[in-house]
Amino acid sequence: MNEAHAPKAPLLEISELRVSYEAAKGRILAVDNVSIALPEGATLGIVGESGCGKSSLARALLGLVPRDSGEILLRGKNFQPGRAEGLDVQMVFQSPHASLDPAMNIGAILAEAVRARVRVGRKELAGTCAALLEKVGLYAEDALRYPHQFSGGQQQRIAIARALAAKPSLLVADEAVSALDVSVQAQILNLLRRLRREEGLAMLFISHDLNVVRHISDRIAVMYLGRIVEEGPADEIMERPLHQYTKALISASPLPNPVAQRARRRILLRGEPPSPANPPPGCHFAWRSPLSCPAEIAALPGLYAEARPGHYVEIHPGTVDDEHLLAMWKRNREKSLLWAKRSSFDGTIPKQQE
Ligand SMILES: Nc1ncnc2c1ncn2[C@@H]1O[C@H](COP(=O)(O)OP(=O)(O)OP(=O)(O)O)[C@@H](O)[C@H]1O
Ligand SMILES: [Mg+2]
Repeated sequence: MNEAHAPKAPLLEISELRVSYEAAKGRILAVDNVSIALPEGATLGIVGESGCGKSSLARALLGLVPRDSGEILLRGKNFQPGRAEGLDVQMVFQSPHASLDPAMNIGAILAEAVRARVRVGRKELAGTCAALLEKVGLYAEDALRYPHQFSGGQQQRIAIARALAAKPSLLVADEAVSALDVSVQAQILNLLRRLRREEGLAMLFISHDLNVVRHISDRIAVMYLGRIVEEGPADEIMERPLHQYTKALISASPLPNPVAQRARRRILLRGEPPSPANPPPGCHFAWRSPLSCPAEIAALPGLYAEARPGHYVEIHPGTVDDEHLLAMWKRNREKSLLWAKRSSFDGTIPKQQE
């Protein structure tokens, strides 16, 4: 193929990533065969309850925990977080307080981040730091102050400025607004939205809070026990979810309108979330599903497939109630094709075998 016509590689492509930990109860598979792709400038929200593996996915991407297997490509090339090009991916953590060195003033914190990327003289450095502070809604004078002299929201702005100092293409925000009050959360989300627009930043936005994720994401991926179980355009996931787990998450997230909130039917799951050290066989979710699903069926794997254009879901009698999708699951089951590959909207998913 002529190179000019070759399809452009996505900014980030994670394929079949697995991350596990040694724990007292045995080995925990925290990230189980996760594949995602993110175009330049796009935001993918990752949502799921505590312990489903969101942070492990982010940490493996940044090289902060080793991966068992899987491939991570940035613009089509193997991504190596420790190298200079690793600066292209920056992370913002939940607790800015813990991630900012209390002994350094803000100017020194930002200067260190700028110098990791380029050699600059003192005068130019001061100008760059002032511009970074202004970009996140703070003032040049703030460079002389120390982290403890700022509120939680301001500290998160500083953490974002530090990430921007590296001129990244991708920002990984792991519960970046979870520790903040609701009004401050909204300010930081607005800031991130503005930066995305102005800097063309792509974002992996991780949160357990669907209400937060929906307001910033182009697409949403829902994780359950280490696996992505549904992924699609944000509006589609919120308004036409297919997976019972996504429906349960939506039904549990509060609505601003009290009348609508009272009218809403809550979808309750059976039992407690299973331990990742001892996950149930087959479809992890079917065992807790509100859909009736006998154990011998729950023990069969699901089929991760494109159910609607660009909308992927784990199809299984315990996860979806759409007859056409279930017929697809049954056909694939008969051909033993279930779980052949879990992929996402990057176009690499094999077409459904009819
Ligand atoms: N360093 C570690 N050693 C052992 N187990 C770990 C370690 N880090 C995470 N885990 C386990 O891996 C699983 C996934 O954890 P992870 O922190 O990725 O979840 P999470 O989705 O980010 O949760 P939260 O919403 O609470 O932040 C959990 O069962 C957790 O207990
Ligand atoms: Mg986490």
